[in-house]
Amino acid sequence: MKLEFASKSTNESFARVVVAAFAAQLDPTLEELSDIKTAVSEAVTNAIIHGYEYGEGIITVECSIYESIIEIEISDSGKGIGDLKEAMEPFFTSKPNLERSGMGFTVMETFMDSLEVESMEGKGTVIKMSKRIRELSDKER
Ligand SMILES: Nc1ncnc2c1ncn2[C@@H]1O[C@H](COP(=O)(O)OP(=O)(O)OP(=O)(O)O)[C@@H](O)[C@H]1O
Ligand SMILES: [Mg+2]
Repeated sequence: MKLEFASKSTNESFARVVVAAFAAQLDPTLEELSDIKTAVSEAVTNAIIHGYEYGEGIITVECSIYESIIEIEISDSGKGIGDLKEAMEPFFTSKPNLERSGMGFTVMETFMDSLEVESMEGKGTVIKMSKRIRELSDKER
C-alpha cells in the first residue's frame, strides 16, 4: 500500500486511519491497533512540523504485510536530521518553544517492535517501523 499526501496537520488523522484500515487484515487487537496509530501519528507529525516546518511538501506512507508482521515506512523530503543519535534521545527536541516534549521517537520505539531512521540533512527522512501482530488462540477470540 502506498499513500501520498500534502504536509498538512489535517492529514495526520487521515494517514493514521488509512494505516489502521490496512492493518485490520491482520486482525489486530484494539490495543495493537492503537499502538500502530500512535506511532504513525508521531512520525507524520514529525514530518509536518520538523521535516517541512509547516511548509509545503509531500509525505509518503508505505505499508507491507509479511505473514503476521506489518512494516510501515514514512518518508519526507524535508530538511533532514543532522545528529540522529541526539534526535532519538528521550526528551531531546529542537523545538522546546513549541512545547514539544521530545518523546516522539521514544513513543515509536515503545509501541512498535522495531524502528529504523535514515536521514540526510537537506534531503529528508525515512522512518521504518514494524510490528508483529500476535495471533489470538480460539479461546481468546
Ligand atoms: N521528519 C523529521 N525531519 C526533520 N527533523 C526531525 C524529523 N523527525 C524528528 N526530527 C528531529 O528529531 C527531534 C526529536 O523528535 P521527537 O519526535 O522525538 O520529538 P519532538 O517532535 O521534538 O517532540 P514530540 O514528538 O514529543 O512532540 C525533533 O525535535 C527534530 O529536531
Ligand atoms: Mg515528534
